[in-house]
Amino acid sequence: QVSELDMDAAEKGGYEHFMLKEIHEQPTAVNTTIAPRIVNGMPDLSECGLTPEKLKSYHKLFIVACGTAMHAGMVGKYVIEKLARTEVTVDIASEFRYRDPIIGKDDLMVVVSQSGETADTKAALQLAHERGAEVLSIVNVKGSSIARESDMVLYTHAGPEISVASTKAFSVQMSVMYLIAFEMAYAKGCIDEAECKRLTEELKNIPEVLEKTMQAESKCKYIASKLITASSLLYIGRGLDYALSMEGSLKLKEISYIHSESYAAGELKHGTISLITDGMPVIAVATQSHLLEKTVSNIVEVKSRGAMTITVCKEGEQFAEGVNDYIVEVPELEDVLMPMVTVIPLQMIAYYTSVLKGLNVDKPRNLAKSVTVE
Ligand code: G6P
Repeated sequence: QVSELDMDAAEKGGYEHFMLKEIHEQPTAVNTTIAPRIVNGMPDLSECGLTPEKLKSYHKLFIVACGTAMHAGMVGKYVIEKLARTEVTVDIASEFRYRDPIIGKDDLMVVVSQSGETADTKAALQLAHERGAEVLSIVNVKGSSIARESDMVLYTHAGPEISVASTKAFSVQMSVMYLIAFEMAYAKGCIDEAECKRLTEELKNIPEVLEKTMQAESKCKYIASKLITASSLLYIGRGLDYALSMEGSLKLKEISYIHSESYAAGELKHGTISLITDGMPVIAVATQSHLLEKTVSNIVEVKSRGAMTITVCKEGEQFAEGVNDYIVEVPELEDVLMPMVTVIPLQMIAYYTSVLKGLNVDKPRNLAKSVTVE
């Protein structure tokens, strides 16, 4: 006789919660998603009809999604614009559908959705179709409504995600964004074949690097123990680090019920810095070399106003004494690829804060895994 408790433990594969299991599944999920789409060292997305000719032809890209998927879209925007020099806008689906967007037949909408059933995202897709745009979706659930209604689908292969707070779906969504960006940049002549192969190779090796990144777990648990009494937190970052601080902040508030806000670090001085009081935790995401000095100056600003500073940065990064109370290091990659490793400690900090507060990690109050109504 197998008890319900045993079944539950078996499903969680020895982990205490689905969220932790899914955090640790990221290396495999990313590998399964990208490996079949790398042919002779180059990205190949032709399975869905997304040919280099098409990638060259779009006037503008519109990335539309909700929640965590929207944050993967923010990463996509930075990377596609930086490498492929095509204009990309990112919208929250519930905003896009009501803002009378200027989208037409020469544009591509990229819809990102784990479930493929999110009502607002589906409505945004339908609006893009009405206006003549082509729709590519990045979806995890096979045969879902969004996948069925799209012109092209690139499935992510994360496997089922049970925890309401999304983790592995985010990583695989980003990994597909990179493939699109690299192939588009090559198709448009923005990078040559050698550079495309170099970036693709680095992406391909990420699953291994992610395994190494998991070593940050005990450090993240320790940092979480410093956060459980906080009533409010700030996440700051610039560029790609800003997108990641949005995701870190969302994770934390979803499952720890601690208020947190993500702010573009350079915008702090325009209002938010007045919130800093003695001991308030500020998590700075600082992985982008060309922005590091700027972000560090923001860390110094909050520190001098009493903040407890926690910085997520590349391995071996040096800071002046007294700038950081705690540092979490992640392996160094090409700057554009840093989000892939940076998200791991952000997920773990949120996870352990929830665990240490004794909350229902996998099923936080008021939230649903899939939001199929408006
Ligand atoms: C819900 C989930 C989030 C998810 C969002 C978008 O709010 O709780 O984790 O990011 O929906 O879902 P989708 O399935 O479209 O990615």
